[in-house]
Amino acid sequence: MKFFIDTANLKEINEAKSIGILDGVTTNPSLIAKENIYNKKDILQHYLSICNIVKDRGRVSAEVINTSYDKIIKEGMYLASIHPRIVVKIPMILDGIKSIKYFSEKNIKTNCTLIFSVSQAILAAKAGATYVSPFIGRIDDIHYSGLNLIKEIQYAFDKYKFNTKIIAASIRNTIHILECIKIGIFAVTSPLNILHSLYKHPLTDIGLNKFIKDYKSKIS
Ligand code: G3P
Repeated sequence: MKFFIDTANLKEINEAKSIGILDGVTTNPSLIAKENIYNKKDILQHYLSICNIVKDRGRVSAEVINTSYDKIIKEGMYLASIHPRIVVKIPMILDGIKSIKYFSEKNIKTNCTLIFSVSQAILAAKAGATYVSPFIGRIDDIHYSGLNLIKEIQYAFDKYKFNTKIIAASIRNTIHILECIKIGIFAVTSPLNILHSLYKHPLTDIGLNKFIKDYKSKIS
């Protein structure tokens, strides 16, 4: 089970890494836009900084913002050249599928994003995507089950023996993560606050307070 953090914020990535369980980082253009990045040079430096934080602790997904084949290839090659830990994140569109095929033939890792159906996941896998990112929360937002989609994609990948791995994205709560664990999903990518929620339990806090209180009542 791998835990990725879904952010482009260096402070949050450092904090997640300090817990000792971080396996990588996923970013997207909206997350990048929240940081102080204003040009291509800053973006390069930002991704380098993220890669230097994770070091050998995993992969960093960097998303293309182009949507036509030639431009995706050019941008993806540029992103992949920044650091060996970079995974080129590509949207599930027609030119995205073609680009995934191109990168897989060049042994460049890809993460196919904005996955909302089994058919999209299967096409990404057939094109050779290293990872697919189904968006659980956004499916729930439109009153369908994001977790059901994850189950169906995992079933299809197992059935057809695809090597493509699932990174469950758009995580909104700990239940999403716990259910992914039960299904046996390769990885979840979540915001920092949800990572922190995973170890918090009121009975742990009550128990710990009592242990310390009992100890201090006898031992000075
Ligand atoms: O990075 C992709 C995905 O995790 C986005 O999540 O919360 O914006 O739906 P969210």
